[in-house]
Amino acid sequence: MANEIDLLIKNIGVLATPIGSVAKYGKEQNEIMVLKNAYIAVNNGEILEVGTGNCGFENVATQVIDASGCLVTPGLVDSHTHLVFGGWRQHEMSLKLCGASYLDILKAGGGILSTVERTREATEDELFYKSKALLETMLAHGTTTCEIKSGYGLNFDDELKQLNVTARLKKETPLDIASTFMGAHAVPKEFKENRDGYIDLLCNKIIPELATHKLAEFCDIFCESSVFDINETQRILETAASHGMKIKMHADEIEPMGGAELAGKLSAISAEHLIQASNQGIQAMAKSKTIAVLLPATSFYLDKPYARARKMLDENMAVAVATDFNPGSSPNLNLQLPMNIACLKYKLTPSEVLTAVTLNAAAAIGFEKKLGSLEPKKQADIVIWNCEDLDFLFYRYGNNQVKQVIKAGKVM
Ligand code: NIG
Ligand code: FE
Repeated sequence: MANEIDLLIKNIGVLATPIGSVAKYGKEQNEIMVLKNAYIAVNNGEILEVGTGNCGFENVATQVIDASGCLVTPGLVDSHTHLVFGGWRQHEMSLKLCGASYLDILKAGGGILSTVERTREATEDELFYKSKALLETMLAHGTTTCEIKSGYGLNFDDELKQLNVTARLKKETPLDIASTFMGAHAVPKEFKENRDGYIDLLCNKIIPELATHKLAEFCDIFCESSVFDINETQRILETAASHGMKIKMHADEIEPMGGAELAGKLSAISAEHLIQASNQGIQAMAKSKTIAVLLPATSFYLDKPYARARKMLDENMAVAVATDFNPGSSPNLNLQLPMNIACLKYKLTPSEVLTAVTLNAAAAIGFEKKLGSLEPKKQADIVIWNCEDLDFLFYRYGNNQVKQVIKAGKVM
């Protein structure tokens, strides 16, 4: 007779999960484990056993959930969000419809810079309660882990305020959260005529001082035409790396900049967007094992091309898919939508996308040993879906298909 356990999930129609504690590259991204008529035994927030058929836990489990023949996967991991911000930007919709591009709006002092004003005006508490509510909605859509970038403060105090909010969210919400410093998201308006002055401030003061607070594990930058160029990007990221942060890059999102090549050269943990990444850039990232964090809902929302995900897998890269949730280019926090788009537009298989939003996403933010798959000793982050198999999850779209979410063994 088995020992007492906290939770048994029985009668799982299909259990689908990648296996392992490292990212899946190339062809391996498609190789997931699929079990029929399965169960998961959970104890102390961890998975104790995954199996099929009859199990000996039914009479010793404190709580039993009958999955009623539904699909079960790992909790989703959203590896790229800009979740903490003041205000929204609904007024940009009509500008876009009149033909203004994303970079036009930014150059005119709108876009990211208008969110910077709203974020600077907001108190830490206001940002915290707004962000907490957003995280609750994400959780209800199956996201049990996420990354959050700063980058709407663009000075020491307001970047610190954003990072402090993220630190509180880590403590006061059930989600696992990775924190990324992104002070190089734009040049703030007070440095419009002195961009070198802002880069000096980032490298000589903000990064070194923030590093001592240990509030961010990663540093990201918007390497983009008219935002930060390749040389500026290299200087800022090398400074961050010298202060112990792992590096990420918004690379080749709108215009090809050689960003993917630089991400490879600097051995970035991940490079994001990559819509315009060149063949050489993809090869450089494959060599450095940089994970491609792709954001198909942003392509959709900005009406831009889709990143070449199949080419990246052919070159033996690992691909993750995320929402890019932010008030400008992707005001959507439901990861199920970019999952659908990744399938339809990137031509990834449901298995490849599942890996992209679980194990590979976890690896892009440093959580791959702890979560991202359903196997013994991993944290019990589990989604039960209102459908019978993995294909169905990608076939339906636009509605929330979550039936139940379990985070670290607790039913949400
Ligand atoms: O990833 N590209 C830069 N940053 C965000 C957009 C931020 C915003 O528009 O507020 C992105 O798309
Ligand atoms: Fe982004």
